[in-house]
Amino acid sequence: MPSTLIKAVGHYVPENVVTNNDLVQHMDTTDEWITQRTGIKERRFFTEGKDTVSSMGANAARMALERAGVNASEIEMIVFATLSPDYNFPGSGVLLQRELGLPGIPCIDVRAQCSGFIYGLSIADQYIKTGAYKTILLVGSEIQSNVMEISDRGRGMAVIFGDGAGAAVLQATTEEGRGVLSTHIHADGVYAEKLTVQHPGSNRKARVTKEMIEDGSMLPYMDGPFVFKNAVVRFPEVINEALTHNNLTKDDIDLLIPHQANLRISQAVQEKFGLSDDKVFNNIQKYGNTTAASIPLALSEAWQEGRVKPGNLICSGSFWSRIYVGFGTGALVVGATLAVFDTNYTLESFSVTS
Ligand code: UT7
Repeated sequence: MPSTLIKAVGHYVPENVVTNNDLVQHMDTTDEWITQRTGIKERRFFTEGKDTVSSMGANAARMALERAGVNASEIEMIVFATLSPDYNFPGSGVLLQRELGLPGIPCIDVRAQCSGFIYGLSIADQYIKTGAYKTILLVGSEIQSNVMEISDRGRGMAVIFGDGAGAAVLQATTEEGRGVLSTHIHADGVYAEKLTVQHPGSNRKARVTKEMIEDGSMLPYMDGPFVFKNAVVRFPEVINEALTHNNLTKDDIDLLIPHQANLRISQAVQEKFGLSDDKVFNNIQKYGNTTAASIPLALSEAWQEGRVKPGNLICSGSFWSRIYVGFGTGALVVGATLAVFDTNYTLESFSVTS
């Protein structure tokens, strides 16, 4: 049975850097508060007229394709993870397909928030393992700066989230000992409203009202302490599930690439597993939380910095719940994937292995 090789990854971030001190000009917060609570020093905000979720995804995809040495025409399917699609519908997958000039191939949009990339990987993995497709483009891309309010009222969210994109070229391999080991995904709809944007939604006759705009109920809502506590429990749970499934232990992990939600969450997970600093990669300091883009963006930079070595066992994990305008129910979602990466010297390959 073929397995799924992450042939290469790429990323794109908007040029507009927004520091903590820039935010201080617009809301009652401090660089010290943001740094201590989240580890974030700066993030990127998109440029209107230049960046869109699909165009940023396309830029990340082009980098991944070039590194993989794969021509776009080889892509047989697109899986696009985002909570901030260009349009309510159609999804951003078809817009990316149009931009890359790949008419006719199927496009699946995944709405699993910060777990979107891992959910997407689990979907692509099934198509590759069954032999249905040999080359799949997986993208995570987000524009979140325009759903948050850069104000005192919106400060709870505004200091955390940023914009960016990451992409992976996935290819079937029959080589022994290479490819994605396993993916593990979960969800818990009980907590749907703990992290949510409810308006405009389809459950009311008037999707947008003046009151919603005025009272701030169109803004994202997050019960931060709840999400934090949930994350530090669920994250290790799903990583342990992945390790146990593969008869591995925490000592086998060469590099943990956590979803970049909060540096304190990453550190709590690191501590729980007793991993040294060289075994964990974080770049939330530069980009904030980029939701579905966070894992491929971190993976791409980790690889660029030489942190991913041939044959490394890479573990990536995520959790989250819905945040974006008006797409029905939400759920806390978690996912983890375990992979042995086998890069070669050229830009050629990430291979995720089993
Ligand atoms: O992808 C996953 C998505 N989300 C997450 O992972 C978020 C998980 N949660 C967190 O990261 C943390 O809960 C936050 C960073 C969001 C907040 O940190 P916290 O230590 O849980 O703070 P808190 O929400 O309990 O708020 C503490 C205080 C409050 O003031 P009072 O009530 O103690 O007077 C807040 O009003 O901090 C205040 N506060 C702020 N102060 C300065 C909230 N936001 C800010 C802010 N600047 N931006």
